[in-house]
Amino acid sequence: MIYRPRILRQSPAIRNMVTETRLTPANFIAPLFIVEGESVNEEISSLPGYYRKSLDMTLLEVEALWSLGIQCVLLFIKCKNALKDNAGTEALNAQGLMQRSIRAIRNVCPEMCIMTDIALDPFSSFGHDGIVSGNEIVNDATVSVLAKMAVSHAEAGAHFVAPSDMMDGRIGAIRQALETAGFHHTGIMSYSAKYASCFYGPFRDALDSAPGFGDKKSYQMNPANRLEAIKEVRLDIAEGADIVMVKPALSYLDIIREVKNEVVVPVSAYHVSGEYAMIKAAAQKGWLNEQQAMMETTLSIKRAGADLIATYFAKDIAKLIS
Ligand code: PBG
Repeated sequence: MIYRPRILRQSPAIRNMVTETRLTPANFIAPLFIVEGESVNEEISSLPGYYRKSLDMTLLEVEALWSLGIQCVLLFIKCKNALKDNAGTEALNAQGLMQRSIRAIRNVCPEMCIMTDIALDPFSSFGHDGIVSGNEIVNDATVSVLAKMAVSHAEAGAHFVAPSDMMDGRIGAIRQALETAGFHHTGIMSYSAKYASCFYGPFRDALDSAPGFGDKKSYQMNPANRLEAIKEVRLDIAEGADIVMVKPALSYLDIIREVKNEVVVPVSAYHVSGEYAMIKAAAQKGWLNEQQAMMETTLSIKRAGADLIATYFAKDIAKLIS
């Protein structure tokens, strides 16, 4: 035999020397769900071990994440039903929960990179990511609200805005709105290839944001499509995206790799709520080792090509590797 591949696997030292992919806390983005109130720390039933927190509790969490080496948080807020409408009014409120949260997090942890969700679903009386007219999710009217929303988050101090809505042309409109308003340092992490996936279920429970009618297939992508992901990514980069995202992650590892091969901007992947819930559920039944499943899963996402991974496991992984 000329080659014995097992030579490179024979001891921990040698295996460590030839490890191709390593996870570090800086690879992770921690999503946070923020609700009104004080001292609120409610476990989300379909996301065991994950919590909706009021802002005071969120600030403690941000400090804990920072001390573990996590350097980026992605903010989602749960909007009160009474404030929801079909125009995204509350999304633009300078004193809204999102805007207050951004300011407060910057205050307690100025170095933490703050990313904010841009989409109307948490604010929509229809639970859709855009403005609804009849059965249609209206593109251009939605885009102009999203651009204002992005400026409002930038004013509050967001470092990156993260449009998760999949409307056409929103990256260009947001970039232009940020430039016009003088926010030359605000980044855009675009959910470029976001698929219409069943794996968002627990997230919609967390924010009470499930679509009231129909589904999201007229704006989120068909899971059968691959080339379309490349088209979306190219468009978003041409319109000014700094980071492009593929979402979900695990059923779309091929797309992550293809996007990684195609672009020269950082690629992120969102290991979504349903993917987390599957591991938690199997672990609760004693069918999987949770830590091993968590590490193997996130490693596979990085190996596929993701430079950044948004995951509900961010804190647990940081604890384990630091
Ligand atoms: C909505 C949004 C969703 C997620 C992030 N932003 C759900 C959806 O599109 O319905 C899902 C995240 C997750 O499942 O963890 N703009």
